[in-house]
Amino acid sequence: MPEIVKVAKGLENVVVDKTAIATTSSAGDLLYRGYKAIDLAEKKSFEDTAFLIVNGKLPTDGEASRFASSIQENMQIDPSVREIMKINRESDVMRNIRSMISLYPYREKDTRKLFLKMDSIIPQLSSDTMKAFKGEPFQDSSVKGYSAKFYSLITGGKTMDHAASFQKLMILYMEHEFNASTFALRVAASTLADPVSAVCAALATLKGPLHGGANSEVLEYLGSINSREEARKYVDEKVQKSEKIMGFGHRVYKKRDPRAQFVKGELKKIAPDYPLFQAAEAVEDYLWEKKNLPANVDLYAAILMKYLGIEESFYLPVFAASRIYGWNAHYFEQVENNKIIRPAAEYIGPENLTL
Ligand code: COA
Repeated sequence: MPEIVKVAKGLENVVVDKTAIATTSSAGDLLYRGYKAIDLAEKKSFEDTAFLIVNGKLPTDGEASRFASSIQENMQIDPSVREIMKINRESDVMRNIRSMISLYPYREKDTRKLFLKMDSIIPQLSSDTMKAFKGEPFQDSSVKGYSAKFYSLITGGKTMDHAASFQKLMILYMEHEFNASTFALRVAASTLADPVSAVCAALATLKGPLHGGANSEVLEYLGSINSREEARKYVDEKVQKSEKIMGFGHRVYKKRDPRAQFVKGELKKIAPDYPLFQAAEAVEDYLWEKKNLPANVDLYAAILMKYLGIEESFYLPVFAASRIYGWNAHYFEQVENNKIIRPAAEYIGPENLTL
């Protein structure tokens, strides 16, 4: 029998493989291919950052414009998919994205091109899902740029005032090494499953409230907190019942999530008096005082998206539309140096039963 190694439940603090895509530095910064994610959010476009994640280096001017054009073209949806959506009329946007990514009539045989198609269609799939559900005509947008077009599609093109803030958020959501959805994708990729199947595994995993689903649950409680006293009361009650408070805690960031602080800074600039922002700060301060638990990116992401006029059903699709570029990089990193991911279990059931 080979030697058995027991590891922590939930693989907490267990290193399972190498990656050159992203990490959290010893100083607590999230790095994408060596660059601070918050610097990229401040200075680079979504497309340039996506190029970096997928290709391992920042693009030259020529590469940047070819990559951006390719994304723009790939954002167009095949009309046959819209016919299915009209019959399906699903209200759960993530569920529909998962189904449509699976059913999509991809024409590309080259797996990298196929991935880029998948990477680019979530914005239109998200908008179309809600239009079909509401029985409204599908909406197209001539806005250029991945995040700007997405922003225009899901806000009905009413305003582009804060498109830059939205782009920053999308950059910060793009990649986070072996988070649960990426790990699920890598497990699927390690079996040499095709890219579409691997992305469906990732989309399914992202949906849970302990991972990507947290951002749409944040507003449920923040809306009812109108003062520091109410924040303390809410936290005390949740802690007393041992219940999780969405938007707080993180497997990697035990003191500070740099993405949360960056988005908080963005809100401070554009919406310092926004009541939800003030409620979040009050909960954050007290939860830190009481349990040393930091806010995670989903707390301030939800508030930013609410402030930008984005419907809650799109919060998780925004995360998915961004993280899919990280999944793209991880798929190829896994298959290019593959070993099937197949851990062992400690059996605690009965043995030697007789019939
Ligand atoms: N609210 C209240 N307590 C929390 C908490 C939260 N959001 N997150 C962690 N804790 C507490 C746990 O109860 C536990 O306390 P204990 O040691 O007294 O039992 C301790 O902090 C460790 O938490 P644990 O769940 O074991 O950490 P984890 O690394 O396994 O889980 C998360 C990380 C993200 C799943 C967890 O923090 C969580 O569920 N957060 C809420 C969901 C969320 O916002 N997800 C988005 C992540 S970006």
